[in-house]
Amino acid sequence: MDPPATTPHPRNMPRTNSQSPALTPESDTVNSIPDENIIQTNEEASLCKLDAVKLGYWQDPYLPMMVHGSLRHERKAPDMYKGYYARVKCVERLVLQFIAAVRRARGPDAVVQIVNLGAGYDTLYWRLHANAELVRQGKMRVVDLDLLPVTTKKCHFIRGHKQLMDLLIGEVRDGEVAHGELHSDEYDLISSDIRDTLQIERKLMDNCKLDPKQPTLFIAECVLIYMSTGSTKQLLSWIAKTFHTAAFINYEQVHMDDHFGQIMFDALKAQGCLLADADSCKSLEMHEQRFLKTGWDGAQAADMNQMCGSLPQADVDRVDRIAMIDEPEVLRQLFAHYSITWAQKGGADIGLDKIRLV
Ligand SMILES: C[S@@+](CC[C@H](N)C(=O)[O-])C[C@H]1O[C@@H](n2cnc3c(N)ncnc32)[C@H](O)[C@@H]1O
Repeated sequence: MDPPATTPHPRNMPRTNSQSPALTPESDTVNSIPDENIIQTNEEASLCKLDAVKLGYWQDPYLPMMVHGSLRHERKAPDMYKGYYARVKCVERLVLQFIAAVRRARGPDAVVQIVNLGAGYDTLYWRLHANAELVRQGKMRVVDLDLLPVTTKKCHFIRGHKQLMDLLIGEVRDGEVAHGELHSDEYDLISSDIRDTLQIERKLMDNCKLDPKQPTLFIAECVLIYMSTGSTKQLLSWIAKTFHTAAFINYEQVHMDDHFGQIMFDALKAQGCLLADADSCKSLEMHEQRFLKTGWDGAQAADMNQMCGSLPQADVDRVDRIAMIDEPEVLRQLFAHYSITWAQKGGADIGLDKIRLV
């Protein structure tokens, strides 16, 4: 979750009348540099994930190599860590279902392509590669894409850790931005602004050698809400038009128009971070429509209370024993304000339309 630094609580946060300002396509062009505060959301999210990993919510031996714990950071309420746990595990489960569907339909040698948009310091590639069975089965290409300040740091962390470098396959080459990008046989790190579909297309196809005919999964976790409605529309339309078989996992806020949503919006705004497209995140149906209106064949959205039903109960019980949740109602509200959308296009012949969120 990338909520405010403290869990918003309806009782202790003032209600204001602020609205999400109307970002126009003109004010959200690639020429307008994304706010430093948006870039910083990755540091905060990564530090929260690192806390949760250290506390035992889930295992990720690679994350400590990506995050420098020297940054000033306050411990969060257990609600937040449980939120990150649910997000990481639910996304991971869908990724594995995507890979399984591709391999079942296309055979063990089928190439699986995954593009993580606004990936931050996410360790998905290494977590997948630690799974010997998955790696044995066939070729995977994972592309992490983010803005240059983020990829420059990630590049530095990767090159600085033998354990991360050892899991890259083949020769590790610099990308077109020295120190900010790298390429290897199954992993690419590229810097790009996802509002610039021409640049993404060039980098994904020419530099990362993605094949638009191969099934490709796109992931965006707490990314699209920072852009204008028009930029997201352009991005989703471009993917649907370009890739023959595609799926999308979008983790994002929902019910941003109710009291709790407004509190989240205001708290983040007070920290200098504008949820520019909060207006597109008012209901689960809006999340689905975003895809259905941009050329995708199917979309389902569920909130995180519902999504928790897809996790193994024994593991959820284990996590619940790590720290007591003081106010279960606040956790329930928090989970009601985050959602996952699963969308697919051209995926019926390999069963992507059969994948269910819960
Ligand atoms: C809240 S962080 C989430 C990071 C990662 N997805 C995760 O779940 O841990 C949002 C990320 O989106 C990236 N981002 C925001 N706007 C972007 C844009 N226009 N193009 C590329 N990346 C962007 C930020 O740099 C940041 O790394």
